[in-house]
Amino acid sequence: MTMNADLTLPEPKNVADAAALLRDGKLCAFPTETVYGLGADATDADAVLAIYETKGRPRFNPLIIHCADLAMAETLAVFSPLARRVAALWPGPLTLVLPARPGNGLADVAMAGLDSVAIRIPDHKLALELIAAVGRPLAAPSANPSGRLSPTTAYQVRLGFAGRVPVLDGGPCRAGVESTIIRVEGDRLVQLRAGAIAREEIERRFGVPVEVAEKDAAIAAPGMLASHYAPNALMRLNAEPREGEAYLAFGTAPEFGGMMRNLSETGDLHEAARNLFSMLHELDAVGAGVIAVAPVPDTGLGEAINDRLQRAAAPRE
Ligand code: TXA
Ligand code: MG
Repeated sequence: MTMNADLTLPEPKNVADAAALLRDGKLCAFPTETVYGLGADATDADAVLAIYETKGRPRFNPLIIHCADLAMAETLAVFSPLARRVAALWPGPLTLVLPARPGNGLADVAMAGLDSVAIRIPDHKLALELIAAVGRPLAAPSANPSGRLSPTTAYQVRLGFAGRVPVLDGGPCRAGVESTIIRVEGDRLVQLRAGAIAREEIERRFGVPVEVAEKDAAIAAPGMLASHYAPNALMRLNAEPREGEAYLAFGTAPEFGGMMRNLSETGDLHEAARNLFSMLHELDAVGAGVIAVAPVPDTGLGEAINDRLQRAAAPRE
């Protein structure tokens, strides 16, 4: 990809502008409470294909379909009683993988040919207004080139795609880490991806255990490639910083003279999740060869944070 930003691109100034682009079969990035999504009309196969092409995303990796409300979601998927109960967390950073409703009108490429569909209702005013204004469900993966860091600001989206994707700017994302993905299987809940709602919170709220899918459940969540969310720098996890490295701290940080960011000085995992991608972006931007990362506890939202860190650190092809 070239880094020449196309400064002539008309930016959508409001929801109506963005909706007009999407209704016209164009792509438009938009904010959600988790990360920015690269949106397309999910019923328009050409528009959805443009998502894959723009991201450089493998075709087998299905997309999350964003709905404005439960009525829209019910036209796309079959909700069991348990699925309907858990959907009480909507709008929110939860994606449910459910049996697709036959003839739901979604482009096959959006579901990557599966007979299940991943759906969520985002908890973001602009996102909800946008989907309602388009009047159709929006397919939207995170608005980054495939395998790179997810964007939590409009600026990062522009940077990632060298200015070639229009962005509806809604300021920084609240959660900063992607949605939790849960597959509803009969009376079981299986987490395919840790995310912005902690597993324990879902268990507490509904009194149902949430199982964790096998780490290599490639078929369960085909997008969960080992190396993902990768910055340019190499990553050293659970590490103290060495000279010449950049350092991503958590909680009380050791003395360090180099470039450093702290996910949360008070050790707050919500704050850390919100800061994760933007701080990785910032540290990566200074061109350090290695980013050393402090240990982050694996409880609550720490599970999602560590999942992203391990993918960012995984050996690359
Ligand atoms: O917070 C989020 O979820 C963001 C915002 C934009 O909503 N979106 C996001 O989408 O993270 P994406 O495309 O980057 O991740 C979608 C994940 C992939 O790992 C994909 O494999 C999985 O969802 N997925 C989609 N459909 C699936 C299905 N039918 N069965 C299993 N996994 C599925
Ligand atoms: Mg992504």
